[in-house]
Amino acid sequence: MEAMEAIMTRRSIRRYTGEQVSPELERKLLEAGMAAPSASNRQPWHFIVVRSRETLDRIPEYHRYSKMLREASLAVVVCGDNKVQTTDFWAQDCSAATENMLVAANALGLGAVWLGVHPKEETVSKTRALLGIPGHVTPLCIVSVGYPAEEKPPGNRYDESRVHGEKW
Ligand SMILES: Cc1cc2nc3c(=O)[nH]c(=O)nc-3n(C[C@H](O)[C@H](O)[C@H](O)COP(=O)(O)O)c2cc1C
Repeated sequence: MEAMEAIMTRRSIRRYTGEQVSPELERKLLEAGMAAPSASNRQPWHFIVVRSRETLDRIPEYHRYSKMLREASLAVVVCGDNKVQTTDFWAQDCSAATENMLVAANALGLGAVWLGVHPKEETVSKTRALLGIPGHVTPLCIVSVGYPAEEKPPGNRYDESRVHGEKW
């Protein structure tokens, strides 16, 4: 898929067929994540790949908007290492990695959705506890991934009123 098409047709996919995502495609998603730009090229990310059905089912018990994980083939928990990037840039770095993975998933025929974690403190601490994430690492979000069992039309969000020529 051409890059513009992959960006413009990406949507949040919350229904999955149950078919397993191969380790090869998982690797491509992670490569896309790690290809993201980051402040001073620090690359402060860590990616926890969760395939365990038991663990995937535990997340919706504390994360209200993550029920689709019960159908997902895998989830990638995107985390920032606050020792590698000590400023707030870690969240932007990890967001860039997350969006890269969402676009790559679309290009690879997968469906995915971003599930917010940081800055919701309770969700952060429950995710830390569930996955054994150390204190200097913060989970930014969870990316739910599977083969799509729903189709969504591309969004059309271009809004001229949000574009400012030269000055506000
Ligand atoms: C920071 C962030 C947090 C999000 N958290 C959730 C979430 O917890 N659960 C969910 O189903 N979708 C979540 N989403 C997905 C948004 O709901 C979705 O991107 C938005 O409605 C636009 O739809 P689209 O992705 O299909 O274009 C999140 C997206 C972002 C960027």
